[in-house]
Amino acid sequence: MAEKLAIYPGSFDPLTNAHLDLIERGSQLFDRLVVAVLTNLEKHPLFTVAERVEMLEEATQGIPHVAVDTFSGLLVDYAKQKNAQVILRGIRAFSDYEYELQMALMNRKLEPSLETVFLMPAESYTYVSSRLVKEIYQHGGSVKGLVPPQVEDRLRQKVSSK
Ligand code: PNS
Repeated sequence: MAEKLAIYPGSFDPLTNAHLDLIERGSQLFDRLVVAVLTNLEKHPLFTVAERVEMLEEATQGIPHVAVDTFSGLLVDYAKQKNAQVILRGIRAFSDYEYELQMALMNRKLEPSLETVFLMPAESYTYVSSRLVKEIYQHGGSVKGLVPPQVEDRLRQKVSSK
């Protein structure tokens, strides 16, 4: 049977423990999981693509079958180029559902053979998002337990160099 390859796409600006939880779950379901960082973000990222990739590589090095990559353009084109069968996305709370449903159905319209699979991170991470992590950190709050320790270090460096 063909190897099941899943792509977990996102901005990862920065990686949070909710992302990491999803990567761990996904790594157990698929033969290979590629975490793919979108390079042409419209929003202004806090971390460069290289920094985001490094943080992902550091945090996932102990998780088997996981690789980190970058992509630009349409996700379905990248998935096709990789011969992936699955797009993995996380749904933390009901509020994520509408955006995720729209993206999944649009991707299905563009490439019907590609299936989107949704996983839920642990309930303790339902309120964790990259946006809030950045906001809290920039205002001097603690993000301990919300992001991997390496990400916390990088946030500290980033904010103190501003
Ligand atoms: O972490 P994010 O920002 O919620 O991830 C969004 C992402 C990267 C999955 C989405 O913006 C995406 O796939 N962008 C690539 C361009 C594309 O394919 N757009 C059409 C999606 S229906």
